[in-house]
Amino acid sequence: MQGFHTIIEPFRIKSVEALKFTTREQREEALRRADYNVFKLRGDDVLVDLLTDSGTGAMSSAQWGALMQGDESYAGSRSFYRFEAAVRDLTGFTHIIPTHQGRAAERILFHTILHPGMIVPNNNHFDTTRANIEVEEADARDMVIDEGRHPAVIHPFKGNMDVRALEALLERDADRVPLVMVTVTNNSGGGQPVSLANLRAVRAVCDRFEKPLFLDACRFAENAWFIKQREDGYADKTPREIAREMFALADGCTMSAKKDGLANIGGFLAMNSDAWAEQCRTLLILTEGFPTYGGLAGYDLEAIARGLEEVVEEPYLKYRIRSTEYLAEKVSGAGVPIIQPAGGHAVYIDARAMLPHITPLQYPGIALVNALYVEGGVRGVEIGTVMFGLCPDGTERAGDMDLVRLAIPRRVYTQSHIDYVAEVVIGVWKKRQQLKGYRITQAPPVLRHFTAAFAPLG
Ligand code: F0G
Repeated sequence: MQGFHTIIEPFRIKSVEALKFTTREQREEALRRADYNVFKLRGDDVLVDLLTDSGTGAMSSAQWGALMQGDESYAGSRSFYRFEAAVRDLTGFTHIIPTHQGRAAERILFHTILHPGMIVPNNNHFDTTRANIEVEEADARDMVIDEGRHPAVIHPFKGNMDVRALEALLERDADRVPLVMVTVTNNSGGGQPVSLANLRAVRAVCDRFEKPLFLDACRFAENAWFIKQREDGYADKTPREIAREMFALADGCTMSAKKDGLANIGGFLAMNSDAWAEQCRTLLILTEGFPTYGGLAGYDLEAIARGLEEVVEEPYLKYRIRSTEYLAEKVSGAGVPIIQPAGGHAVYIDARAMLPHITPLQYPGIALVNALYVEGGVRGVEIGTVMFGLCPDGTERAGDMDLVRLAIPRRVYTQSHIDYVAEVVIGVWKKRQQLKGYRITQAPPVLRHFTAAFAPLG
């Protein structure tokens, strides 16, 4: 609405879910039982759950209505064709392959095209992307611009790829690089956007070396909104037009529909290459399902088709990006160090800067995540040394950064929930000197952050 200052949630609430309140003692006990790993908490013991924005969004009444239209035919389901049309209309890609979530698309793509010793460049690989590359004994190479590695540095497109570094890699090792990836927005680097100018420059390098460009498109709509706000020449374009322009620069994408698909489950792999698509579909049948359902129910395909339309609506994106920024302003206004500017889907607290008395190998991110839970029942996630510090050879090093991500589920929490979260964060900030580090008592060899057990130090 023009002339009004308040940006309201662009929806009203038709169905609600009660929250359970706990005492500090109950949360301390729950955390102990969870081996000090918030992934092992029961969801019911969490008051405001900012663990992830993935699959945790609220579907619209139109999406719930669409569920009833689901066609559960094993082959050739009507819902598949609706889904395929929605994805193709948005992305323009020839082959649309449904998968049960994003990592299934990654696994199918990488298992099909990678051989040991190959290299996959990306601005920053997300954890599952990296793991799906490393499991093929290939090298996941992060090439975000230098600004993207420094939390306090302000840059409008901190997710941009370092095009010179990409060029140098390809000049040296082009035969080892089967494709180039760019993640929009750059989740591991703080939910930061990638500009169209940067995508165009990456495309030009890919053309020069005849390499396909794939987007990790999980948060394409949020990226499009940032382009509209920040990149010259895009203020008057719609988010859908901008998204189309992003996809038009690529040869394919992996997608988790649990983010900007506004669905609780689902994903897809899309591409123009006939040869790769044929091989990917063969593997899909082996591990996910027939190519017209790919591990999803017909009703899931309906929800995604509808979600992809709603997610590019301007009132939604305006509210979405502003609500994340609102939390960022509140906590950084109190002095809490965060990645600047705010990301699209999350606020990332710089736990290493906040807790300098806890060394990276004592996991400052875990210390902060656990303190936020005990303080106010808020669950965030460590994105740092526990998530990224374990090398394929089993040695451990400090992650590039030690961040705590507070990811905002889509259309779930209201402004007062966010005010409460800010109060909890600021409460922990005031007693930060009392926080202690952790050690790992047990962990698996890959993706250890999900199941590791910790013990507090001292
Ligand atoms: N790529 C990115 C950039 C992601 O953020 C995720 C998931 C995936 C791929 C994998 O998709 O979960 O559907 O298999 N990110 C979630 C998160 C889990 O919490 O950020 P998935």
